[in-house]
Amino acid sequence: AVETGVARKPIYDWDAYRQNLEGRLGRSHEIMHRIMQKAKREPKRIVFLEGGNHQVLRSCQIILDEGIASPILLGPKQEIEREIKKLRLELDGVQIIEPKTFEHLDDYAEEFYKLRCRKGITRREARHLLQHDPNYFGAMMVKVGDADGLVGGVNQHYPETIRPALQTLPLDKKTSVIAGLYMMVFQNDVMFFADTTVNIEPTSEQLAEIAICASDTVKHLDIEPRIAMLSFSNFGSTRHPHTEKVARATQIVKERRPDLAIDGEMMADTAVDPEILNSVYDFNQLKGKANVLVFPSLESGNIAYKLMARLGGAKAIGPILMGTNKAIHVLQRDCEVEDIVNTASLAVIDAQDHQCVMGEH
Ligand code: ACO
Repeated sequence: AVETGVARKPIYDWDAYRQNLEGRLGRSHEIMHRIMQKAKREPKRIVFLEGGNHQVLRSCQIILDEGIASPILLGPKQEIEREIKKLRLELDGVQIIEPKTFEHLDDYAEEFYKLRCRKGITRREARHLLQHDPNYFGAMMVKVGDADGLVGGVNQHYPETIRPALQTLPLDKKTSVIAGLYMMVFQNDVMFFADTTVNIEPTSEQLAEIAICASDTVKHLDIEPRIAMLSFSNFGSTRHPHTEKVARATQIVKERRPDLAIDGEMMADTAVDPEILNSVYDFNQLKGKANVLVFPSLESGNIAYKLMARLGGAKAIGPILMGTNKAIHVLQRDCEVEDIVNTASLAVIDAQDHQCVMGEH
């Protein structure tokens, strides 16, 4: 069991955070509350790649006080301890790991070398990467089971954080694609957007896998998914290779997973307006407004979630990285404390899920 400091008086003003969330998100803040409760029932060890970052340290205080996870901080020990003091936080008992002096560095390096020796990595390079790049070190910690999940990327470009994880951790057996899912929380509604962060030009096959992964992830959050496969055409109204790619993806999902409520290709307004969906396209198999939107390309998905967050009044929570066999969650650059706490909570329930899946085998 993971020990967390739940008994201490919280330093961070958690009540103010909750009220703020409630004020901004109306009834929809309940979903985040539910996710945190789920995380707290079985907290996990989450490694934070940027251990000395102030936002990360503040987040860890909440995470510790609330008993969401047991944080592990990566980085120079003395420097991190100095920052903790400067911020007047109480992170006693939080593990700080300095990759350079870590006692199992050689074991990690050897394991990583075995993994990548046929991908151009020498023994020396493996050691160097693990010593100097926390992205590789953190991914290895999760791989060997010294941490249950990873959260990072607060001061790096997204590809820099995700690539080491892709190179180190195997895919989930159920898929061949990694993809990013955002939970978009509106005043009185919650929607999910995919893929918003990884696959630049997905094929039909990849889109189908993204839809299936998104559906399984949403179900794991106790929400029944209804998936719309988006394009610039409604059910064949425009014939173009791009719209046909999405129609084909929809067909693949229907064949592979007849249990899912999915349809497409369709335009975004059709997906979210039951009036259009049920009056004009009454043959559709969604039977209600979609709550999972699968975008045809990274351009459209990434642009849509950012516009919704900036202009549409939504709180974007995530990205939830789908498709790895471990809980790896890469943050948006320069995100806030609240985002890190939310992502860490998602990482914990993701780790709980992976543990269940492993237990089944
Ligand atoms: N699914 C599964 N595996 C993948 C995927 C994927 N989508 N992409 C790459 N891989 C695997 C590769 O097969 C490779 O495996 P191997 O080395 O064992 O053979 C490994 O991951 C590493 O691949 P690379 O070729 O080194 O990495 P690549 O150059 O393909 O980059 C990346 C992958 C970084 C995800 C790239 O596709 C990318 O840059 N995507 C866009 C990211 C981005 O800019 N997002 C928008 C901003 S994020 C935001 O707004 C929060």
